[in-house]
Amino acid sequence: MKTKSATSAKVNGARNGHTVSPKARKMLINGQWVAALSGETFETFDPATGEVICKIAAGDKADIDLAVKAARAAFETGPWRRLTASERGRMIWKLADLLEKNLEEFARLESLDNGKPLGVARAADVPLAVDLFRYMAGWTTKIHGRTFPISVPYAPGALFHAYTQREPVGVVGQIIPWNFPLLMAAWKLGPALAAGCTVVLKPAEQTPLSALRLGELIQEAGFPEGVVNIVTGLGETAGAALAGHPGVDKIAFTGSTEVGKIIVRAAANDLKKVSLELGGKSPNIILEDADLETAIPGAASAIFFNHGQCCCAGSRLYVHKKHFNKVVEGVAAAAAKIKVGPGHLPDTEMGPLVSEEQLNRVMGFLQSGQAEGAKSMAGGGRHGDRGYFVQPTVLVNTKPGMKVLEEEIFGPVVCAVPFTDANDVLAAANNNIYGLAAAVWTRDVSKAHRLASQLRAGTVWVNCYNIFDAALPFGGYKQSGWGREMGEEALQLYTETKAVCVRL
Ligand code: NAI
Ligand code: MG
Repeated sequence: MKTKSATSAKVNGARNGHTVSPKARKMLINGQWVAALSGETFETFDPATGEVICKIAAGDKADIDLAVKAARAAFETGPWRRLTASERGRMIWKLADLLEKNLEEFARLESLDNGKPLGVARAADVPLAVDLFRYMAGWTTKIHGRTFPISVPYAPGALFHAYTQREPVGVVGQIIPWNFPLLMAAWKLGPALAAGCTVVLKPAEQTPLSALRLGELIQEAGFPEGVVNIVTGLGETAGAALAGHPGVDKIAFTGSTEVGKIIVRAAANDLKKVSLELGGKSPNIILEDADLETAIPGAASAIFFNHGQCCCAGSRLYVHKKHFNKVVEGVAAAAAKIKVGPGHLPDTEMGPLVSEEQLNRVMGFLQSGQAEGAKSMAGGGRHGDRGYFVQPTVLVNTKPGMKVLEEEIFGPVVCAVPFTDANDVLAAANNNIYGLAAAVWTRDVSKAHRLASQLRAGTVWVNCYNIFDAALPFGGYKQSGWGREMGEEALQLYTETKAVCVRL
């Protein structure tokens, strides 16, 4: 299919050889690339320098309204609903192929806008997004109902043919964060499109570039107009308008627990379906019999991957007291060795945090930890004075009740805590408002499975961390969220079950 791709142009401040299509700074509504109705824009920044990359359309209530109407029309009357499941699947698969073909460009966009190392975006963000689309493409032909033998007591002798069918939930609003901008778009769009929904996607204001470029590929893959609309804008305006719009059947959100609660309230007016993937403070437990050769680097990457800007970051490290010093020294040594720098440099292992706001937030946590008596075994402060870099940090001497040990920091900061008794550590691990992920390092199969079943978390890793697969459901217990992303479970979020009962 012919695309409306514009010629690429060099972008201000993007000195890593990166290019952004000029059109990509507009929004995709009903198959057209448009400015905000208000004409307003906002700026997206290179977090390694704080310099402006480019201006982005600041969509607001009126633009969200247009996008929701376009999604509604595409859902009710457009060609989308008339496609066979197989045709829908092939379109999603084609999108995956296009994304893979443009892997390098997407990795550069992601690194530029978010700050993450280019090598990480190449090896993780983009391939995982490709894989997710392929996985979901395979589901389109496998979303089906069941038949039931029914025995109605007040209709003796009557014969019925009763069955269920699963139908798309309708128009979906999706609000995503900035830590894995493309991948979060894929986690949201993949199952929604597989189920046959239409979408209004609002990327995070810090990192809109890759979602907008994905919009071009969505057109190229042949999705009919209005099936995917991408409205850029601030959370308090565009995001809030989407969450409260009466034309939206379901809202899917990933981000802070604080905003998750706002979304629930906004959705309550018309009882939209809601799914939420929120914060975490995940316990990472190293038992006495763990293989420290793998547990120590595992604990370091559990917290330092993506600069700790992961909802499932292993930010509470519980270590059996016999190994506490060795593990803390090992993780601190790993932290000290991490090469911190701009994401596009080939030897960079950790880039800047995404924004000045996040830098200030993480620095606030470090100050509060120090004021309350925590001690830094590595890092503990800002890295350099330009851009939003923070030193990889290992804290000890933290106590229950301290903010650094209780609250999500969302930066490269781990609190290491010793324990002696496996029951105590289980209670400590579960004693938090979040329940997103947890990990256990042990050579004992029995202990591993016992803890895996006792930890109140949506994911438990054993002798590994941050292992993701499109087939594995991901989501939270407690205040970490509602529902599961990825896997077959994700389709539940985007389908309604209809029971049909026919008297024969
Ligand atoms: P946030 O929750 O404010 O932003 C996430 C998304 O929600 C963005 O697209 C934003 O525009 C939108 N949003 C913000 N306010 C909204 C509102 N009132 N109505 C509708 N949408 C709204 O997260 P923020 O401020 O970027 O980061 C704050 C903290 O949130 C982080 O320090 C971290 O602890 C947590 N967070 C968790 C993430 C996760 O993956 N679970 C991802 C990003 C942040
Ligand atoms: Mg916010």
